[in-house]
Amino acid sequence: MTQRTLLLTGASRGIGHATVKVFQAAGWRVLTVSRTAFDPRCPWHAGATDHFEGDLSDNASRTMLVAAVRKTLPDGCLHAVVNNAGISPKGSDGARIGVADTDEALWLKVLSVNLLGPAGLMRDLLPELERGQGSVVNVGSIVGTRVHPYAGAAYACSKAALAALSREAAAELGPRGIRVNMVTPGEIETAILSDGARAMAGAIPLRRLGTPEEVARVVLFLCSGEASYVNGASIDVNGGQHA
Ligand SMILES: NC(=O)c1ccc[n+]([C@@H]2O[C@H](COP(=O)([O-])OP(=O)(O)OC[C@H]3O[C@@H](n4cnc5c(N)ncnc54)[C@H](OP(=O)(O)O)[C@@H]3O)[C@@H](O)[C@H]2O)c1
Repeated sequence: MTQRTLLLTGASRGIGHATVKVFQAAGWRVLTVSRTAFDPRCPWHAGATDHFEGDLSDNASRTMLVAAVRKTLPDGCLHAVVNNAGISPKGSDGARIGVADTDEALWLKVLSVNLLGPAGLMRDLLPELERGQGSVVNVGSIVGTRVHPYAGAAYACSKAALAALSREAAAELGPRGIRVNMVTPGEIETAILSDGARAMAGAIPLRRLGTPEEVARVVLFLCSGEASYVNGASIDVNGGQHA
């Protein structure tokens, strides 16, 4: 069986880093993207050659990334794109930045990483995804559907828009054999989480934060043949945090 190839954004830490490990363990080749260089302490053998440094908020950088990815695909097939990179800017002391305090520059910055990055990558890598009959997983957030005490207004809007993008793409690309789904994590123990959000653990039905691996395993499921009839879906990974 030919090895399946994943392009994963935001692989340098948190949920993305766990996703690399879970896919590697399942036998996938993982191409990674983040602004930081490959860390030689990382355990997988192809990490240095399969890592691309790039800023997904920057059009030119994304274009270069797509060209570089294309060159590394021997048969021109991509089997999955996981749009995981995201930013959630906070105010001083981790305070949420509301509508009144979000200026034009911040709107643009958040939307360019969290929404335009995924939309652009999906569009530009369509030929490769179609050839591989691949799937896309967008990493959304619990805050795409509710007001959150620590996540800002621009972040929430970007994740709500990402849900709409996933729905649109699933409807449009399904006939071409490409599935598009989303995972919506709740409070997961990573660097993006504020101390305030960490303190919410006791109110979550499972009484703890989630781990990056617990999100990564759902992403793997969505990219696998086990999910062959799952398209346009969104899976919550939030320990039952619905209230
Ligand atoms: N942790 C949670 O509780 C939680 C909850 C809901 C949703 N999520 C979502 O899950 C995803 C991963 O979050 P995380 O918690 O793992 O965050 P994280 O630890 O802060 O990691 C974010 C990743 O995105 C990359 N990144 C950020 N801006 C980028 C850019 N402009 N270009 C390329 N890469 C960029 C970062 O790498 P560099 O800095 O090296 O570029 C890093 O690898 C995000 O979409 C986030 O919104 C997280």
